[in-house]
Amino acid sequence: MAIAARMQRIQPFHVMALLARARELEAAGRSIIHMEIGEPDFVTPQPVIDAGHAALQAGLTHYTPATGLPELRRRIARHYRDRYAVEVDPLRIVVTPGASSALQLVLAALVDPGSRVLLTDPGYPCNRNFVYLLNAEPVGMPVGADTAWQPSVAQVQAHWNEDTSVLLLASPSNPTGTLLDPGCMHGYLDVVRAGGGTLVIDEIYHGLTYGAAAPTALSVSDEICVINSFSKYFGMTGWRLGWLVAPPALVPELDKLAQNLFLAAPTLSQHAALQAFEAPATGILEQRCAYFRQRRDYLLPALRELGFGIPVPPDGAFYLYADCSRFTRDSFAFSHRLLEEAGVAITPGIDFGSYRAGEHVRFAYTTSLENLREGVRRLRDFLL
Ligand SMILES: Cc1ncc(COP(=O)(O)O)c(C=O)c1O
Repeated sequence: MAIAARMQRIQPFHVMALLARARELEAAGRSIIHMEIGEPDFVTPQPVIDAGHAALQAGLTHYTPATGLPELRRRIARHYRDRYAVEVDPLRIVVTPGASSALQLVLAALVDPGSRVLLTDPGYPCNRNFVYLLNAEPVGMPVGADTAWQPSVAQVQAHWNEDTSVLLLASPSNPTGTLLDPGCMHGYLDVVRAGGGTLVIDEIYHGLTYGAAAPTALSVSDEICVINSFSKYFGMTGWRLGWLVAPPALVPELDKLAQNLFLAAPTLSQHAALQAFEAPATGILEQRCAYFRQRRDYLLPALRELGFGIPVPPDGAFYLYADCSRFTRDSFAFSHRLLEEAGVAITPGIDFGSYRAGEHVRFAYTTSLENLREGVRRLRDFLL
């Protein structure tokens, strides 16, 4: 069998091997504190589950239009009005199987083979693989704590050239939890516009921000493509549902691609998601957001006290990207030792890029405060 050459460029996540080993250790009776998992530990709010059941009972089991249920597109548009005071035409919203499919749709519609896509390093690992699938070139812009792990406008300008088609950024970011500076948004847009490209902003962690203002990029311009999802704030990872807001001219292209690639997002999930915007689900979700904030407020100083460097307090998501150079320059080996010897699972920096990856690890606070305290206790015993 001849496997396509592009497959050689697509890497699995290193953390998966770590997770598999963690499960093995657990099966053998060891207790493991999981701080590597990138999804909320809470189950989907009950009113949303009930709405999914009701949809199933009502026999709503057929395809929806490729761009999504019209009611859901309208409800998402209202969410932009209610939460951000931004008017979005529901016809600009394309409902997708997760943000993952939204990212693939938008990149497939905008990126030619050989074209360059600017990303951050560190950044969400799947993005570069989506670009490889298109036989295009991901270009990681190294970012550090000095710029809150987001690129400066000058850096984007310096990386942009005539072969570049897309600047893709996330706010809050995975793995760093930091937001884009709203002051930079016009600058990014100017660079991208001058180069005839497109700015894509992944807002999947919106809703999970802890005090800092997080305006949507749509408040800056309708030209920006914005991605979001029901996975993180709404706690619906397994329902596979996300969305994309695109400029009107792009929507027919996305519609065409959606028809071909996945026909439609899951119907039951779309009906269930309508309830995610309504009380009592909204009350449950806000309570969970408060729990995530409590966890961050505990874990951030606790890790700093142990000697991890986290110079910029993250504003959102559920991650802390920590400099571990006081202990190691090989965060991959360090993560493995931590698992084997201390029973704590974390993600090595190498999963998010190559820039200073050996000196960084990601802690996810997607587990209870009690587990986090136990994790910190184990880390202290291991490190000090
Ligand atoms: C930054 C970012 N974008 C997109 C995704 C994909 O999420 P989903 O397809 O579940 O909506 C993730 C998942 O971890 C992520 O961290």
